[in-house]
Amino acid sequence: MDIEQVLGVSSDFVVRQGMQSLLSLFNDSCEGMMAVDADSRIVWISEKYLHTLGLSREDEALGKAVEEVIPTSRMREVVRTGRPIMLDIMVIKNQTLVVMRIPLKDKYGQTSGAIGFALYDRLQHLKPLVSKFSELQRQLSNTQKELARLRNSKYLISSFIGNSPNVASLKEKATKAARSSSSVLLLGETGSGKEMIAHGIHAASERASAPFICVNISAIPETLLEAEFFGVAPGAFTGADRKMRDGKFKLADGGTLFLDEIGDMPVQVQAKLLRVLQEQEVEPLGSNTIVKIDVRVIAATSRDLKELVNEGKFRSDLYYRLNVLQINLPPLRERMEDLTELCDHLLMEIATRTGEARREINEAAYRHLKAYQWPGNVRELKNALEQACALSDNLELTPSDFSGIFPALMLSEEDSIDLGSNSQSLAQAVATLERKMILECLNASRGNKALTARMLGISRANLYQKLTDLGLMS
Ligand SMILES: Nc1ncnc2c1ncn2[C@@H]1O[C@H](COP(=O)(O)OP(=O)(O)OP(=O)(O)O)[C@@H](O)[C@H]1O
Ligand SMILES: [Mg+2]
Repeated sequence: MDIEQVLGVSSDFVVRQGMQSLLSLFNDSCEGMMAVDADSRIVWISEKYLHTLGLSREDEALGKAVEEVIPTSRMREVVRTGRPIMLDIMVIKNQTLVVMRIPLKDKYGQTSGAIGFALYDRLQHLKPLVSKFSELQRQLSNTQKELARLRNSKYLISSFIGNSPNVASLKEKATKAARSSSSVLLLGETGSGKEMIAHGIHAASERASAPFICVNISAIPETLLEAEFFGVAPGAFTGADRKMRDGKFKLADGGTLFLDEIGDMPVQVQAKLLRVLQEQEVEPLGSNTIVKIDVRVIAATSRDLKELVNEGKFRSDLYYRLNVLQINLPPLRERMEDLTELCDHLLMEIATRTGEARREINEAAYRHLKAYQWPGNVRELKNALEQACALSDNLELTPSDFSGIFPALMLSEEDSIDLGSNSQSLAQAVATLERKMILECLNASRGNKALTARMLGISRANLYQKLTDLGLMS
């Protein structure tokens, strides 16, 4: 139904009336109004606005380019774009104004100027809104900080337990490495703490507040490695993956990328990785765009990388690129003077986690622990202690509490297990032997998992499963 029939007046008249009431309402309640023409020159300004601007006469403003009178004005933008700026904050001479700017259109729809309203001269009126916004922003920033803390480093260099000369020099090198941005290559047997030191270097570097992203190369199927590293452009593959997926390099931007088990990287991916490291840019799969990145790389392996280079299985140019700072992690058997401190720390950790009393280790048990070669290093020690604590009720752990871990023949006669009351089940004995053989082969092959699997006559997947079951892989 036509409004004219209802009200008995033309719709044109209602709109004009409405505009007028609105303008006089604004004029009464706001701090000032002004209008500019198509050249953004001031053609009209209210008394109040003159006053707000500290001007005494109209002719100090009329005919002037708007910026001459109000340097921070965005009226010209409204005239140029023809689009309103509904709410904005403008500062004039240390005064904060909440403003609204609307384009004026002629009957052909062309922008012929703009009208501006200074709504409030104080932000007081917006206080409830602003304080709600600040509260939400505070919560967001706290959550982001917490997330960053969880995502970033778990360890500091000082959390690396040990004071032996080997460890002291390791910590010194790690601290120096943290000060530079060059690539670091961490070499050491399985379980010797490479990942821990990588976290520590990141945490001590100037990138500490940026992400620390970890990629275990041996755990990712070869076909997915490139997508995982470099990301995937939207629609690169048909089906499920239509969205853009960032690669680990992009996720680590500004921070550190930890490439674990670098020795297991397929040769064709090595070439691409080298290019990324040299150029500091990635090209997501299926895209033609180059993304600039700033990533510090720390690589680690328990394999003999130099040997892999000699065998042609690892590119020598990539090896030299990664090997700018080399840090070798000493095996546990070469720093036995740290064993007591490590046990103290690990037993404390176990007690805190389980809520049970902290266990001690008696002297005889220590003798065994010290005589053992620890092919699985600190990880193996940690597991040995966890197993002993779980299986024994003794506050002081004795050699027999470790019988599940060390074969009976390792124990000297005085400490040997009482076969009558405490004998191992066949399954336990088999597990003990299996663990021992796996660790010895891993050590003999210097961490080469493919070779270890071959030595043991099992598949690589089977070896990974066994390592996981035995708690030898984190
Ligand atoms: N010096 C140390 N102090 C305390 N805990 C340690 C130390 N070294 C290693 N650990 C612990 O031992 C376990 C194995 O360490 P980490 O994962 O860093 O070894 P890794 O060298 O990366 O082994 P892998 O080659 O098998 O990946 C972790 O639980 C870690 O916390
Ligand atoms: Mg590791």
